[in-house]
Amino acid sequence: MRCTEVRMSSYPDGDVGPAHFGLADVELPAPRPGEVLVRNTWTSVDPGLRLRMRRHAPAGYFAAFPLDAPLDGVLTVGEVLESRADGFAAGDTVWHPFGWRTHAVVDASATYMNGAGSLRVLDTASTPASWYLGPLGAIGLTAWAGLHVVGALGGGERVWVSAAGGAVGSLVAQVAVLLGHRVVASAGSAEKVAWLRDEVGVEAAFDYREEPPAQALARLAPEGLDVYFDNVGGDHLEAALDAMRPHGRIALCGSVSDYESEPRGPRNLFLATAKHLTLAGFRGSLHLDLLDDMQRRLGGWLRDGVVAHRQSVYEGLSQAPVALQDMLAGRTTGKTLVRL
Ligand SMILES: NC(=O)c1ccc[n+]([C@@H]2O[C@H](COP(=O)([O-])OP(=O)(O)OC[C@H]3O[C@@H](n4cnc5c(N)ncnc54)[C@H](OP(=O)(O)O)[C@@H]3O)[C@@H](O)[C@H]2O)c1
Repeated sequence: MRCTEVRMSSYPDGDVGPAHFGLADVELPAPRPGEVLVRNTWTSVDPGLRLRMRRHAPAGYFAAFPLDAPLDGVLTVGEVLESRADGFAAGDTVWHPFGWRTHAVVDASATYMNGAGSLRVLDTASTPASWYLGPLGAIGLTAWAGLHVVGALGGGERVWVSAAGGAVGSLVAQVAVLLGHRVVASAGSAEKVAWLRDEVGVEAAFDYREEPPAQALARLAPEGLDVYFDNVGGDHLEAALDAMRPHGRIALCGSVSDYESEPRGPRNLFLATAKHLTLAGFRGSLHLDLLDDMQRRLGGWLRDGVVAHRQSVYEGLSQAPVALQDMLAGRTTGKTLVRL
């Protein structure tokens, strides 16, 4: 079986772009006992990939991508073409971690990406397959786990969500509103802000490119924040530390503002001590115990149309680097995906 795969040809110093990648055609081995052959149909584009497009990924995180090799550990959905593993049959829709390529041979018994990428049959009877790379997969799990680790699955609090037009943030903002929180949301375009305010129904939203977060929070949440869901880090986290009320909680989901440049703060970390704050870093993939509960509740809201799933779809494998570049620059909305 011939397979086309995206490979990194060089590590970017600043912004990543198509020049850092190439395509390679390779021959895949036939599946052995315990393996399945999958034709990939959707593959994920995530900010975290940029952290691995370095000579050394952050300690404790997924490994850096080697040059001139396929990108292992990228969540993907596909159709089983041939199975030599119990529990999997030709025609099944599955997820697995060998994305940014057209086909993959997957070991059905291996644990991949803390279990979040292990081969799994997906129920597509009433659910579009692409949702499993978004709200019903690792993205939904990350949104749910982040609210869980800061004890915010209840409701009735003042919550700020950053990067709220993106994959994780747009789910967190919608779920937080449904749970009964008073939500402030921020994003980087007028269109994203209008969607959050007019369709999601957050209490307030702002464009951080138009107004610095510290100034916007002082204007929109003068009484302070109970919870901050941080997708951005840097100046956003610094503004949150200023705005947190005593005993507030911050879910440290990611710091995308740092992924392509030198980290920039926060400079006011002592406020976490002064105000008895909890800063909770977490990985969605380490909360698989929450997956069933998340899929049941979020899946119900999605099917009822109470939660909207927005996605930005790029057509064809060769577009994956462009999709990544666009997503990091804020040019995509909701979950960024490539359809193969
Ligand atoms: N902890 C986990 O397990 C886990 C899992 C998945 C993702 N994450 C993290 O969650 C965050 C969001 O991921 P996602 O997949 O949902 O991506 P996303 O929000 O769909 O895409 C990233 C968005 O971040 C915004 N952004 C980029 N640079 C920025 C900057 N300097 N300041 C403010 N905003 C900036 C851009 O939107 P706008 O500028 O238009 O707002 C961009 O589109 C990332 O930090 C990611 O690493 C964590």
